[in-house]
Amino acid sequence: MAAKNLIRRITSCLFSASSIPHKANLASINRPSSTACYVGIQENTNRLIVNWKDNLIDEYPLVWLRDNCQCPACFDQSSQSRTINFSHFQVNQKFKHLAITKDIVEVQWEDGHQSSYNLQWLKQRSFLPKEQQGWLDANKAPYNTWNANYFKSIPVLDFKAVLQDDETLLDWLHTLDVWGVCIFKNVPHSLGQVANLAKRVGFIKKTHYGEEFSVQAKANATNVAYTQGYLQLHTDLPYYEYKPGINLLHCYIQYKGMGGDSLLTDGFKIAEWLRENDPGAYKCLVETRVTWSDVGQENGNRFHKVHHAPVICESSDGTIRRINYSQPQRDSHMAVPIDQVENWYRALKKFYDLALDPQYLVTFKLQPGEMVTFDNLRVLHGRTAFGENLKGERHVQGAYVDWDEARSKIRVLKANKSNQKYL
Ligand SMILES: [Fe+2]
Ligand SMILES: [Zn+2]
Repeated sequence: MAAKNLIRRITSCLFSASSIPHKANLASINRPSSTACYVGIQENTNRLIVNWKDNLIDEYPLVWLRDNCQCPACFDQSSQSRTINFSHFQVNQKFKHLAITKDIVEVQWEDGHQSSYNLQWLKQRSFLPKEQQGWLDANKAPYNTWNANYFKSIPVLDFKAVLQDDETLLDWLHTLDVWGVCIFKNVPHSLGQVANLAKRVGFIKKTHYGEEFSVQAKANATNVAYTQGYLQLHTDLPYYEYKPGINLLHCYIQYKGMGGDSLLTDGFKIAEWLRENDPGAYKCLVETRVTWSDVGQENGNRFHKVHHAPVICESSDGTIRRINYSQPQRDSHMAVPIDQVENWYRALKKFYDLALDPQYLVTFKLQPGEMVTFDNLRVLHGRTAFGENLKGERHVQGAYVDWDEARSKIRVLKANKSNQKYL
């Protein structure tokens, strides 16, 4: 649709609004480039039209405007929440008067209610697909996948800095969002450091293994991680629907002999490889829901967690968003059509063999004073065997933080940095 025609129609709608004539010189309002030249109602679509000075045209459905009225009766400033009672809400909204004063658009509705909208606020809520995508992208950093070679340049940050400095905190969370892994140096030699870091974000995600958990060899271990054996690559807690998002592992005491090395693979990289090179295996791992479970007892609390989910989970737009993989915690119940079972095992074997391929797998030995942090929805981790018969001390303390808390913190830190007025 030609912008010229649209403007003409808007203008004529604007002039036909009963209360508008004395404000009819809207078209001549001249403001900085982010502000509007023309504002009007397009009656055939029931939309407010804003023609910005930079020639972009935004349209806002009247139903959305009424729902997002910012007056104290409809929006509570202290909780920053919509309070309009939806049981009384009319979907077919009609306006009576439209006016613009300074940078405020005022709408009087047919039922007499009065709303006003700041132009800048409206601009930030554009319905133009490109603007919407920009807003979505700003809320989620696109990830970069990595292979073993990249790991040589893995981001390493100073632990003391992250505890004190918001810039380093943002760096860390951004690194995790983009690369899925980040290592800290200079972690004090005392327990409780994972909690200190979690508190910088928000709070620990508690699971049935507790808040802070100790990865140490124990007699009668409740989890295979609490042994000295080889720990196969896995993601933690795939049997949780709300799987903890970020894994913090502080090396408190490292085994002094051979072994106890950490293993990491970028699960998104493996999934991407399959999507490109073996689409049949990829599709099978995306479409086949298997069952993850954990049964046992920890600190006197009996648990039996069950979650059904594929190994590779996609968002509705096809973005890879979560990897579930844990050999010990995949249930023997397999509610999959029998003729798909072998195909699924073939695909899974391919996935796991790739994860172990030296091209993608990194092996390193954490030292006391180091902490590895990684995205538990994405990165597979494991450990080589160490010692035997419970001899040979190794103690790693862990905790989880949810991505909801981390992404919230990223937004808050970014807003602080730019003195953002409108969220
Ligand atoms: Fe683990
Ligand atoms: Zn209102």
